[in-house]
Amino acid sequence: MVSAEGGSAPTNELDTVPQHVAIIMDGNGRWARQRGLPRLAGHRAGTENLRRIIQACVDFGVKILTIYAFSTENWTRPQEEVGGLLALMSRVIDRELDNLRKNGVQIRHLGSLDELPPDLQSKIRHAVQVTAANDRLVLNVALNYGGRREIVGAAQRMMREGLAPEQVTEQTFSRYLYTGGLPDPDLIIRTAGEMRLSNFLVWQAAYAEFYATPTYWPDFDPKEFRKALVAYGQRTRKFGGLPDADR
Ligand code: FPP
Repeated sequence: MVSAEGGSAPTNELDTVPQHVAIIMDGNGRWARQRGLPRLAGHRAGTENLRRIIQACVDFGVKILTIYAFSTENWTRPQEEVGGLLALMSRVIDRELDNLRKNGVQIRHLGSLDELPPDLQSKIRHAVQVTAANDRLVLNVALNYGGRREIVGAAQRMMREGLAPEQVTEQTFSRYLYTGGLPDPDLIIRTAGEMRLSNFLVWQAAYAEFYATPTYWPDFDPKEFRKALVAYGQRTRKFGGLPDADR
């Protein structure tokens, strides 16, 4: 999946590359419908696109990529689609893990393993374990993930561990989230035109730049990704303060 040489596109126009990019990969179903195909064909095409975008992250120098693969709300979809999606993820791990591991990708899981089929749970645990020492690209896979559930879970863990109220700071809270130890996303991309976060990285998104495009996820190729990175480079991030020019 990831080659040492890279090859998506040259990186020269990108002055400011976000360290951490998070993506809501939306539009697989609409992509399929447009072609008269079943929804799962859209998810398969989305998976192929993910390979290209992982490679593009390496080429462009993005260090952390977080993808929204399956939300805690996605269980309400028809059983056939849910089963197909989970089976697809299982096959992707079988097929791609070795390549990802050899190419320095560290896989992390964001979310709860609890409700997932046992064989998928063990494949995810294994993937996380064998790639833990890699540091070329961190790939966070949000799977059975909900942002509110993550926040509630963090609060519960802090209480269980007996933290005193004064110890519950923003820094402590961040450490108890699934993303503990990682910087917040700099850029959140959503494909397929919707303008909402849909319970994704609710805490971590506080100061992220948001980029939305009408392009469906399977068509969001490295060229489109590059456009998002260029747009990010043109933003002025203020984190609630004033830009330098207005001080
Ligand atoms: C949203 O499209 C996409 C998903 C709910 C699933 C995303 C999953 C993949 C791209 C599969 C690959 C993931 C891994 C980790 C291997 P949608 O179905 O909501 O599209 P629609 O809004 O057009 O119906």
